[in-house]
Parts: sequence; structure tokens; C-alpha cells
Amino acid sequence: MSLYKYNGDLLSERRDIIGTVLKAIGRGRVVRRGSRFGRIVGRKLLQRLALLSAFSLACFAFFGIKLMFDGNVEPSVALSQEVQQKLPGLDDTAKPPPKKKRGTHLPCKVGFAESVDHIIDPKEIRNFSKFSLEYIRQGEETFQSDLFEPRFGGYQTLEEREKSFNARNQTVHCGFIDGPPGTSSTGFVLDEKDKAFMNTCQVVVSSCIFGNSDFLRRPTSKQMSEFSKKNVCFVMFVDEQTLSTLSSDGHIPDDGGHIGLWRMVIVRDLPYKDLRKTGKVPKFLSHRLFPSARYSIWLDSKMRLNSDPMLIIEHFLWRTRSEYAISNHYDRHCVWDEVLQNKRLKKFDPTAIDEQFTFYQSDGLTKFDPLDPNTLLPSYVPEGSFIVRAHTPMSNLFSCLWFNEVNRFTSRDQISFAYTYLKLRRMNPDRPFYLNMFKDCERRALTKLFAHRAMH
Ligand SMILES: *[C@@H]1O[C@H](CO)[C@@H](O)[C@H](O)[C@H]1NC(C)=O
Ligand SMILES: *[C@@H]1O[C@H](CO)[C@@H](O)[C@H](O)[C@H]1NC(C)=O
Repeated sequence: MSLYKYNGDLLSERRDIIGTVLKAIGRGRVVRRGSRFGRIVGRKLLQRLALLSAFSLACFAFFGIKLMFDGNVEPSVALSQEVQQKLPGLDDTAKPPPKKKRGTHLPCKVGFAESVDHIIDPKEIRNFSKFSLEYIRQGEETFQSDLFEPRFGGYQTLEEREKSFNARNQTVHCGFIDGPPGTSSTGFVLDEKDKAFMNTCQVVVSSCIFGNSDFLRRPTSKQMSEFSKKNVCFVMFVDEQTLSTLSSDGHIPDDGGHIGLWRMVIVRDLPYKDLRKTGKVPKFLSHRLFPSARYSIWLDSKMRLNSDPMLIIEHFLWRTRSEYAISNHYDRHCVWDEVLQNKRLKKFDPTAIDEQFTFYQSDGLTKFDPLDPNTLLPSYVPEGSFIVRAHTPMSNLFSCLWFNEVNRFTSRDQISFAYTYLKLRRMNPDRPFYLNMFKDCERRALTKLFAHRAMH
């Protein structure tokens, strides 16, 4: 990431701080590059900056904290992290971040097959666990009491939650739960036309932008094979507000609903007020949204896809004989560190994080031990912005379970990943789940990373 290149550069540190202050007071986007900085800010503002710099720390302490507490205005992960790390005195209640040397987080080489002509879908490469997974489609609670307002994630009891971890024929909560006939939808409403299109998809690349949180990054067309262009569905979920902003940016869908390779799909009635939580619906539930799909790739909208999806599937799933692939976090491997970091950056209501974390500890979550030869994961913290999966029963079950944790607790899915995975494995010792946790540098090689758009 560009910010790490400037690590230790005083000037860029000032830029970042000032950029954040400007953003906080609604003067404009966060500016991190010298050239754009000069262009946008101009001489007049530079004079003001002299004044501003005197107040900048005080301003930041005030607005920065306000910004972080405002649920609708979440600064980008990377940026706020950066600012926070450079201002260790900001949150006096938290320990100052460790002064460890930060890597430059460069991409590394991914040994893709030469071309899609050289790969073959192995179909039965592995005896993946077979069972039949069904989904609750209508909440029963709503029949019993007027007190229950139908909701998207349903009302899963703790007992049902416990049972849902069993990898066997069963019906589980997995979002998209409506109330009884006659009640209004619980959200994530799509046009019938879009649904019909999505039902045809066998291989999917999907992403979402809700609440104008990002610019549209089109997959790099020249890196995509003709095969993928023809056979892979590239679907970008957006709300109406985002689509209208994209249109005013000059991105207007053609008659088929496409902008470049992206097929734009409008989502109405977002199921959660928290837009991040809403973003977890397409992120985790691609097997629900694309019922015929055999493979799907999720990427966060801050990334541009630079590699062919079929080559990605071959590399991360077929070659490693896996059914689910996700990268580890570039810095953190222990949920304890992740929780600390989330609180430090005020990512979420700390009480809600504590409640979730305490629950997980009481149900067996332990610290990550890199020296444990029997550890089931190379890291307990994922970098979940890029996920490759085969839609096998075990993979689908894991997706539902992880979604249910996010639905029940906080939208910080890095906190629930390891707990969910380890519990699933623990409860099904005879049912393997082939998860490939790959290196973050590989994720960086497949995509180009951008900062999130400043929230409006
Ligand atoms: C899968 O299991 C069947 C029967 O148990 C066995 O005949 C077959 O060789 C297995 N396939 C693989 C790829 O392990
Ligand atoms: C699970 O469901 C499958 C398919 O519906 C069925 O063939 C199988 O017998 C069931 N297994 C059990 C243990 O009920």
C-alpha cells in the first residue's frame, strides 16, 4: 500500500493527519498523494493550513473521535489505522501500539497456470463431505407472538445455533428469512430480472458498494480470458443511492445493466442500518444469491481484480484440493490482538465487542500459538477482503455459520472467523473441511488496492 512506502516520512505523516482533519470537517476527500494534494488544496488552502496546523491536533482529537463514533462515517481501515499508529497519544486508555517494524506489504508471485486452456475442472478431486443443507426461509417465531418483527437473519436460539454447527443433513438459519405471508419483506430485495440472471450463473465474481463507500473499480479487462468474459458472472451489488452517484461520476450502465464487465444489481430495502453489516450479505451468502453457482470469488470494492477468475479458482482451490480459500491478515494472527486493535480504532461499540469476545472465550477460543504443531490454521485472523470458494456443503455451511455470527454479534468478521472455523472442526471430527488460508501477499498480487472513498 502506498502509505507504507512513506513510512517514516514526516511530510506524509502530516499530510495524513491534515487529510483526516479536512475530511472530518467536511472540506473534502482524504488526500494522500503529493501531486493530488498540491492540485486540490492550492495556495489559498496552504495558507489556511498554517493556521490549521496549530489547531490540527486539537481538531483531530475532537473531530477524529466524533468521526469514529459516528456509525455512518467510518474512515477506511487502512487510513485510520495509519493515523492512529502515528498518533499513539491519541487514545490514552489503550496501550500504545507496539513499535515493531512494519513490513512494506508487497505482493508476491502467484504461480498461475499459463492460460485457462490448460486447466480442467476436476469435478471430484476430493471426497468433500456430502450432506444436504437446507435453509430456513420463513421465521416461525413471528407466528407465535406479535412482539417479533420479522428480520432478515431470523431469531436463532442458542440451542439452534449449537446444532447448526453439525455437518449433517439439516435446515439452518442463513439470512433471507421472511415473515409470514402478508408481512413485508425483511430486505435485500432484488428485481426478478436480476434474480433470473443470477440463477444462471455457474461461476461468479461479486462485490458490493453500499452508501457510496467506494468508487467503481472495473476488473482489468485485458487480464481476463475470453472464456471468463463469456462464462463468469461479474456482479456488483449497489443500493440506489450509490448507483446514482456512480452515474453522476460518469459510470452509466448500458441496456444490459453492465458497466464494463460488472453487471450492476440494485439492492432495495437494505436489511441493516449498519451498511457494513449489509455488505456481509453478498460477502458471505453467495451460495444463496447464486443458487446454481459452483464457484464464487468475493472481492471488497476497494480492490480492482487484476487476474483471471478461472486461474484464481484453479490456483487456490483445484490445485490445493480446497473448498474455501481466504488470506491471512498481514499483521495480526491472534484474535486477542484483533480485539485490541478494533477497540483502539473504535471500530465498533466496545461493549458489543467484549460481549462477543467473552462468549467465544467461554466456548473454547484460545490464543493463537504459532509454535503449536497441531494448529488448524496458519493464523486466527483473516484478511477477508478476498475469498474464493467452491459451493460444497461444508463450505456453504461455514458461510452460513460465519454470517450468523456477524448477524448475532458485531460486523467485525475478523473476530468471528477462527472461532467459527475451529468450532465447526471440533464438532465434526470425522468431516474434514478443506480450507486454504493463503498468504496476504498473494491477495495483493491478484488485485490492486485502493483507499475507500470518503463517506459523504
Ligand atoms: C472417494 O471415495 C470413493 C468411495 O469411498 C473412492 O472409491 C474414491 O476413490 C474416492 N475418491 C477420491 C478422489 O479420493
Ligand atoms: C441426507 O440427505 C441426502 C439427500 O437428500 C440423502 O440421500 C441421505 O440419505 C440423507 N442422509 C441421512 C443420514 O439422512
